[in-house]
Amino acid sequence: MSTQLIVALDVETAAEGLALVDRIGDACQWYKVGKQLFTRFGPEIVRELKSRGKKVFLDLKFHDIPNTVREAVRSAAAIGADMTNVHASGGAAMLAAAAEGARESDVLLIAVTVLTSMDENELAGIGIAATPRDQVVRLARLTQASGVPGVVCSALEIEPLRATCGPDFVLVVPGIRPAGASTDDQKRIMTPAQAAQLGANYIVVGRPILRAADPAAAARAVVAELA
Ligand code: C5P
Repeated sequence: MSTQLIVALDVETAAEGLALVDRIGDACQWYKVGKQLFTRFGPEIVRELKSRGKKVFLDLKFHDIPNTVREAVRSAAAIGADMTNVHASGGAAMLAAAAEGARESDVLLIAVTVLTSMDENELAGIGIAATPRDQVVRLARLTQASGVPGVVCSALEIEPLRATCGPDFVLVVPGIRPAGASTDDQKRIMTPAQAAQLGANYIVVGRPILRAADPAAAARAVVAELA
């Protein structure tokens, strides 16, 4: 199984994002469009990426009643997203509805388990008496049982989730830092090679590539590490 690079397009404007995509060129096929860019520029940014032959991970983390989430996932597929996501904490019925919305197209549906910004205290504050790790595993199981084929997880969760959910479960892993790169605000980090070795299907990399003097060279270096 080869691990694929997704560049997180965390920039202010569509023009800035597309200029980066053009600079990176063939070094990367996948781009993650999140709430920052999508809220302002909408489906147009997805269309622009698709017209450049790129694959798009639409990272909008839907969390709503089942009917709304099913239709939101269908809409994501309709505008050309190749991957999109929902919050696993929306529950089994919502996850199953999301999976139904994804089924008519080729869109790869992923769930978010516990936000990495939440620690045990934050979980307690919303009534969840569990460690983040136990809650991640619980929600990954629920995700899989509901027919959603994978999750976003931190590098440190790859091993327990592979063990729990098996070899075919899709793991999308942010918090990746090439050896020697700045860690920025990421705490639970791993190099691309380590994540690939543990069995990540996709890694998500933002700042180490976006802020590199030569983003194409930085992307190629990450891809070389994955191989
Ligand atoms: O710049 P950096 O490589 O840290 O960007 C990582 C990307 O992955 C960002 O878009 C960030 O929001 C996202 N992400 C993350 N940690 C998570 C989930 C998503 O860093 N647990």
